[in-house]
Amino acid sequence: MEIAEWKEAGKPLNTIVNCECLKGMRQMADNSVDTIITDPPYNISKLNDNRSKLNSPIIRRESPLKYDFGEWDNLSRTEFLDFTKSWLKECCRVLKEGGTIISFFNKEDISFLGWEAKDLGIRTRSIISWHKTNPVPSFRKVNYLSACEFLWVGSKGEKAWTFNFKQQKEMHNFFETPNSSSYGETEHPTEKPLKLLKHLIEIHTNENDIVLDPFMGSGTTAVACIQTGRQYIGFELSEDYCKMSEARIKATQPPLKQEYGSMSTGVDSGCSIPIFFKPCPFSEGGCVHFYLLYSPNVIASCSALI
Ligand SMILES: C[S@@+](CC[C@H](N)C(=O)[O-])C[C@H]1O[C@@H](n2cnc3c(N)ncnc32)[C@H](O)[C@@H]1O
Repeated sequence: MEIAEWKEAGKPLNTIVNCECLKGMRQMADNSVDTIITDPPYNISKLNDNRSKLNSPIIRRESPLKYDFGEWDNLSRTEFLDFTKSWLKECCRVLKEGGTIISFFNKEDISFLGWEAKDLGIRTRSIISWHKTNPVPSFRKVNYLSACEFLWVGSKGEKAWTFNFKQQKEMHNFFETPNSSSYGETEHPTEKPLKLLKHLIEIHTNENDIVLDPFMGSGTTAVACIQTGRQYIGFELSEDYCKMSEARIKATQPPLKQEYGSMSTGVDSGCSIPIFFKPCPFSEGGCVHFYLLYSPNVIASCSALI
């Protein structure tokens, strides 16, 4: 959706607006979103220039893997730092007190986010390492593989933040999953893993909370929100990437709501018992729990893979 159309429609949620994100965020009220999860330009296309010439046929995608991500990732150093300060400032303004901001960022500059955000009332809470289990192999073998990316996590103000602690083993500031930009759902050059986005959303937001992503790309944040029952708002400069996200969003199912069904027990034919369906929180949606309510005091449950 174009920005004029979005404004005309009363700036609805669950929309990706095709516009420059500073322009978009300036239309938003102070303290209006619960959480921000984003993946801005790292400005590394120039550094990657030599690698672009080594496009490898071993990567399974229809088009070759690109290291020059586009004009949006090719700023001068000063332009890049100024732009980073500007989007960070807008994010801090629209984030509610107690809200969380999480950003992927390049390894050299990740501490810049924390320093800048401190003056804007944001406290650095953690740095998460994402271990990409499918890094590009090293052919020259003169350095480590680039197998990790980093995410900065901050929270606004003094108010307690939303933090849904899962099992201890799920709460390491370390996450392992393949890099989707080689094996993902879209042709976006820097698509991030849906699994990681959903994990973060479940921890840092509650159902129906509003998540902002000013750099939506292929729409991974939006899809993660839909699949976890959260609301989203996003901005994306490229019309092609907006179309990519729209197609993805159309194909995305919201989570199963708690619903009542009925089933014959088979033992006492003709007797129907209500069933509650609940998506299993521990898997990626391939599992459901059935709760069988026999009487107010007797509830049996079982899980099934679907
Ligand atoms: C690193 S990618 C995000 C990828 C995304 N996380 C995904 O999983 O697909 C950054 C995106 O920001 C967009 N972008 C760059 N500068 C922008 C700006 N000023 N306003 C809005 N979008 C911008 C680019 O077109 C690109 O798609």
